Amino acid sequence: MAVRVLVVPGSFRTGSLNTRLAALATKKLALRGAEVRRISLADYQMPIYNGDLEKESGTPAAAQKLAEQFMAHDAVLLVSPEYNASIPPVLSNAIDWMSRDGVAPFRDRVFALAAASPGPFGGVRVALALRQMLEASGLGALVIPEHFLLTFAGEAFAENEELKDAAADKRLEAVLRALIERATALKLSRES
Ligand SMILES: Cc1cc2nc3c(=O)[nH]c(=O)nc-3n(C[C@H](O)[C@H](O)[C@H](O)COP(=O)(O)O)c2cc1C
Repeated sequence: MAVRVLVVPGSFRTGSLNTRLAALATKKLALRGAEVRRISLADYQMPIYNGDLEKESGTPAAAQKLAEQFMAHDAVLLVSPEYNASIPPVLSNAIDWMSRDGVAPFRDRVFALAAASPGPFGGVRVALALRQMLEASGLGALVIPEHFLLTFAGEAFAENEELKDAAADKRLEAVLRALIERATALKLSRES
């Protein structure tokens, strides 16, 4: 059975560079034989985490639904903008809420990280911050070492939404290949 990959852009603004990169990654993953689903966090809107709110009403339905999506896939590709050298609130907040019901959405699946930035650093700091949040906290997620950073992303896409730069395209393909390989290995070990 094909590896199931969930693609989650960390931005849902109109024209989002990260959503465009996520769309391209989705297409490439499907071409590699994965069963891919790309979602939008616009469909999982939830309040900012607040302990009082949690006490009164528990985990919001949107966070539960998102956690179910994570759990229904063998791999998760997060494609996130960098905000002030870190994780944008919409993604960070979703992870915070999901973490309150345990680590199940983060364990027993493989994560990969990608970022697109109009600037020269390509979102390296959001990749590091997400890696720390997912891997080095109590969440204990498995994040593959390879990540993809798209620099000067405003000018990076051709008219057909492919990447203009062949070297960047090759790096993206390498990350997606690694994600599928790791997820396949995990799936096989789970099934054996
Ligand atoms: C609040 C805020 C903070 C930002 N901080 C950074 C940053 O630290 N590094 C960076 O490369 N870009 C930063 N940017 C620019 C974003 O990379 C840029 O707006 C990008 O297009 C957002 O991603 P999106 O197109 O997928 O929505 C910031 C943008 C906003 C709105």
